[in-house]
Amino acid sequence: MKELIIGNLKIKNPIIQGGMGVCISLSGLAAAVANEGGVGVISAVGIGMTEPNYRSNFRESNKIALRKEIRKARQNSDGVIGVNTMLAVSDFDDLLRVSIEEKVDIVFLTAGLPLKKPDIDLSILENTNTKFIPKVSSPRAASLIFQHWSDRYNRIPDAVVLEGPLSGGHLGFRRKVLEENEILLTSLVKGTINELEPFKFKYGKEIPVIAAGGIYSGIDIFEIMEAGASAVKMGTRFVTTHECDASDSFKQNYLKCSKEDITLIDSPVGLPGRVISNDFVQQIKMGKKKPINCPWKCLKTCNYANVQFCIAEALFNAAKGNFHDGFSFAGTNAYLANEIYSVKEVFDQLKSEFNQASLMMEKLSWSA
Ligand SMILES: Cc1cc2nc3c(=O)[nH]c(=O)nc-3n(C[C@H](O)[C@H](O)[C@H](O)COP(=O)(O)O)c2cc1C
Repeated sequence: MKELIIGNLKIKNPIIQGGMGVCISLSGLAAAVANEGGVGVISAVGIGMTEPNYRSNFRESNKIALRKEIRKARQNSDGVIGVNTMLAVSDFDDLLRVSIEEKVDIVFLTAGLPLKKPDIDLSILENTNTKFIPKVSSPRAASLIFQHWSDRYNRIPDAVVLEGPLSGGHLGFRRKVLEENEILLTSLVKGTINELEPFKFKYGKEIPVIAAGGIYSGIDIFEIMEAGASAVKMGTRFVTTHECDASDSFKQNYLKCSKEDITLIDSPVGLPGRVISNDFVQQIKMGKKKPINCPWKCLKTCNYANVQFCIAEALFNAAKGNFHDGFSFAGTNAYLANEIYSVKEVFDQLKSEFNQASLMMEKLSWSA
């Protein structure tokens, strides 16, 4: 696999582990992935839910927990460490500030388009080595962000993640589009490369397009790189690793699930989400309202008096193994997992499959 270069960052294996909330990817998984030469990503959303004062002061607890996890990841790895922060959360600016103060290598900006100036001193953004990478679901959204940053700040994001319709977690597509299943990640990647071409020339630098959603094997990585992607971002595949920070029950839920168990829900975030079905999921699909005791408002747009259930609580409960009151997010390929591996074993498998696909391609082009 070809090294991924983002500014001064050299990433030996172009594999980025997707940030997974709530408390699925913390320092344990992030450090393990970074040690294998990929990018390890801590998910910031709801990270403070393990802190004792979360209910009385969620903002402070999130900041404390994020700082702790970044420092732990740094202690355990010299590799590249990122943080995933959702623009949709009400303490986005706090989490961004902590990530920059702690000098993480990359901040991934997800669940929204970063078009609004963050409520922090812009000089902090200008004088940092931290790279900023938005996640989008269409070439048009990528172009909109790049144009906006270029006009407003005379700079562009350091790369872009293009996430297709097969990923785990919240999805940037309408339910109908997801159900029709007609959008191909390869087309999205090619379209994004074309849309960003003018910015590449204007700023005189490469803009890596990172593909995500449904990438599970080294063959998948080979195919998407053939379409022009510079790297991949994978979430689902890293859940069933020893180092993943979720409980063993969460990982077992992946091992047990079948293809038919993987389904879509309407999340209170206002987006569809892909999950593994269980009784809780069936009940919310039937319209049952779950009790909510929200002392804060973690999502900017959440109307907590009216929502059907609390997504943060449901995901946190599942992370801890309580599936009576929660469910797991999962990508379409979650059912493929049949064993728990170490992150090193996953990297070895991915590299070997990638090399085999690449050899096969070489042979085919020789014989043609
Ligand atoms: C269990 C799980 C939790 C996730 N949580 C988040 C999250 O909190 N924020 C986010 O931006 N993306 C989240 N994602 C998406 C991942 O970061 C990544 O983009 C996605 O998993 C890629 O697709 P894949 O799962 O098919 O590999 C989550 C994905 C999974 C599987």
